[in-house]
Amino acid sequence: MCSCLKQKLLDIEYNKSNIFNLGKENFNNFNFNLYSDEINKEKYNSNISPRENIKIIKNLAEQFIKDFENPNSKNLLFTGNTGLGKTFISNCIANEVLKSGKTVLYQTAPVMLDSIIDYRFGKKNSQNICDSIYSVDLLIIDDLGTETINSMKFTELFNIINTRLLNNSNNVTKTIISTNLNMKNLYETYDERIVSRFVGYYNICRFFGEDIRFK
Ligand SMILES: Nc1ncnc2c1ncn2[C@@H]1O[C@H](COP(=O)(O)OP(=O)(O)O)[C@@H](O)[C@H]1O
Ligand SMILES: [Mg+2]
Repeated sequence: MCSCLKQKLLDIEYNKSNIFNLGKENFNNFNFNLYSDEINKEKYNSNISPRENIKIIKNLAEQFIKDFENPNSKNLLFTGNTGLGKTFISNCIANEVLKSGKTVLYQTAPVMLDSIIDYRFGKKNSQNICDSIYSVDLLIIDDLGTETINSMKFTELFNIINTRLLNNSNNVTKTIISTNLNMKNLYETYDERIVSRFVGYYNICRFFGEDIRFK
């Protein structure tokens, strides 16, 4: 299959609801004014304003797209409260990566892990989705931490993250992960093996500011 046919199948089967947003959630509609330019160390626990911060994150996102083929360039981990634009910027990146003819699969962590567990138990004919999770050029795992984790899902998650890093020798596979958990919560929930891979192979972007949905 050529990559555009592969992508069509992914869109029809799995990207349905999300790909719908790609028309409006792209870099052309990226609005910095939704982020406050107030510097407030106490409130944001940072020496820069939310606006300055999102500019840095957007630059990292653009660098990620530029260096996509480079096996040594980092993946992206977006951490921060809800409504701060983590899914939005993931969609912006998806849009650009799709334009360059690569395949993109978007899944929330609960849906992704449930599909894999179903497949392992032979419950559903979900081999395609499992193959794609491992081999798609860009995998976006959204809302990590909202799944009900157990040791089986933990192992699957570890294997996905680890295998996608190892793929780098022959076919570059990149991953974007979004989570409402902070680094401390991630350590508590997923342990050292997973989090050490985030630290080593992901640019960790902390989103802060006020919930955009209320603006
Ligand atoms: N940079 C941005 N420019 C314009 N709208 C944005 C931007 N970031 C987020 N939004 C909008 O704000 C809302 C919340 O963003 P979302 O990405 O869903 O947050 P999160 O995934 O962090 O919970 C959405 O309606 C989204 O379209
Ligand atoms: Mg989101």
